[in-house]
Amino acid sequence: MQKPTAHLRRRFYLMKIDHLGIATKGIDDALKFWADALGLENVHTEVVEDQKVRVAMLPIGESRIELLEPTSDDSPISKFLEKRGGGIHHVAVAVEDIEAALAGLKAKGMRLIDESPRIGAEGCLVAFVHPSSANGVLLELVQSIKT
Ligand code: CO
Repeated sequence: MQKPTAHLRRRFYLMKIDHLGIATKGIDDALKFWADALGLENVHTEVVEDQKVRVAMLPIGESRIELLEPTSDDSPISKFLEKRGGGIHHVAVAVEDIEAALAGLKAKGMRLIDESPRIGAEGCLVAFVHPSSANGVLLELVQSIKT
């Protein structure tokens, strides 16, 4: 018999947890834990203008830790830091077809922050699902650009 979630996985083209986004006041300071103490390697740092953040990507197994630092006071990360003082900001799931995943969620009445994908870190297509539809979790869908 098929596992009960198998058909969902097919429909939404879920692949894996792509990364966990962690809000920090400063990436350099956060790296003292994630890189220096824990031993992860920071393989990629970039500013994502659209989201007003600087990100650092640290692979861990098949997944990554994404450290986020605000680049301006009106960054969503600044607001998060003010309210919560840092911590897990979002969970990102890799999907094969982000348009199909968004259409599927919308059809089920889920609240989307992004109705259509935008460009995120590393040139990926990303879209956020509102925490009110995901038990308080800000969910990011990520589709990597195939090269
Ligand atoms: Co992210």
